Amino acid sequence: MDRRDFLTVASATAAGGASLGAAETGATAGQRSGRPTTRERSRVWRIGTPPSIGNLQLTTRDTPAPQRGEVLVRVVASSINARDRGIVAGFFPIGANKASIPLSEGAGEVIALGEGVEEVAVGDRVTSCHFPEWTEGRWRPSVYERDIGNTLDGWLGERVILPARGLVRLPAGVSYEAAATLASSGVTAWHALFEIAQLRPGQTVLSLGTGGVSTIGMQLAKQAGARVVVTSSRNDKLARMRELGADLTVNYRDTPAWGARVAELTGGGVDVVLENVGRPTLDESMNACAPGACIVMIGTGPLPKELPKMPGFYQKNLMLKAISNGSRQMFADLLGAMAANRLQPVIDKTFAFEEAIAAFREMEAGDHIGKVLIRHP
Ligand SMILES: NC(=O)c1ccc[n+]([C@@H]2O[C@H](COP(=O)([O-])OP(=O)(O)OC[C@H]3O[C@@H](n4cnc5c(N)ncnc54)[C@H](OP(=O)(O)O)[C@@H]3O)[C@@H](O)[C@H]2O)c1
Repeated sequence: MDRRDFLTVASATAAGGASLGAAETGATAGQRSGRPTTRERSRVWRIGTPPSIGNLQLTTRDTPAPQRGEVLVRVVASSINARDRGIVAGFFPIGANKASIPLSEGAGEVIALGEGVEEVAVGDRVTSCHFPEWTEGRWRPSVYERDIGNTLDGWLGERVILPARGLVRLPAGVSYEAAATLASSGVTAWHALFEIAQLRPGQTVLSLGTGGVSTIGMQLAKQAGARVVVTSSRNDKLARMRELGADLTVNYRDTPAWGARVAELTGGGVDVVLENVGRPTLDESMNACAPGACIVMIGTGPLPKELPKMPGFYQKNLMLKAISNGSRQMFADLLGAMAANRLQPVIDKTFAFEEAIAAFREMEAGDHIGKVLIRHP
């Protein structure tokens, strides 16, 4: 699903602003009923009815008490991914939008433990995997049944309940703010570069765009000793990506045949593509490839009007692999690498917790480079 889909549906369903600080009265949704609470009150943003960015609701609730296998986290920061816009607008295609509290990326401090929790202790600095049941090994479709911010409540609250199984401790030197940007975009880029493409120093990576996945993908590839090419619709964004480390840049709007241009600039094509858009750009990505290259399908862009022709797929012996995020082990590996290399994710804009609607609007506008962060009180 691309920005056009998000914008069309979001603007069609937009209705009014948030009702700031409204108190929750009684138990209405399944997740809100029958759950023991602490004595504390805290605020959460909930997906509104009808769902839309403008109809996100800031409400105050009795802070829930963690149950068996769960922890209560004081959230310090959270951030937004492309899919979160679809989830709050009610049209994300996977997971049936069961969550009431959005966002799959965040970080905070554990403040209470449910029965049987041994993975973490009170006071630990933690973040959480997108899919808490995918701890290691290969992906399987069932991990979507428990998906933070989609089928399970997410991070957009002052205090949130999370499954202990999916938590990852932050290493020393990784801040809450940095960790809060990684569960979706960072883990996906890590999975693509190091688990799938098996990137080696000296290889060339093409990272499409300048958003969350693209930017951390560029940073991780540079850290691993690769040469990186970035594409964008805007020259100012490309200039910033060069400052951040990109070796070569191409404006895909000014150069519609950008795949051939990338192949020319790199002297024969790239070894790895982070395909952060999806099927609409697949043919140009293939044109950018060197023989034997690996294209990792990350973006969930819609089918283009014309079916992809997949140039060079056989002639160049290309490898095409789709991925869905990554495991807890991959997240732990990513955090270890970030700490060891003092790598800081690019946070373009920061919003206060109360400004969550403005933060979603910023993502929708697409002016950001890297990540849009929300700082919690
Ligand atoms: N498979 C997975 O596990 C996974 C995980 C995370 C995200 N995703 C998907 O990955 C995509 C990116 O997510 P995100 O959170 O990084 O989004 P984002 O921050 O909103 O960034 C979107 C980027 O797409 C770029 N773009 C749009 N059309 C393009 C084109 N024709 N050529 C090159 N770049 C183009 C934009 O580049 P410019 O503005 O610079 O032109 C923008 O930087 C989304 O489709 C999302 O659903 C998938």
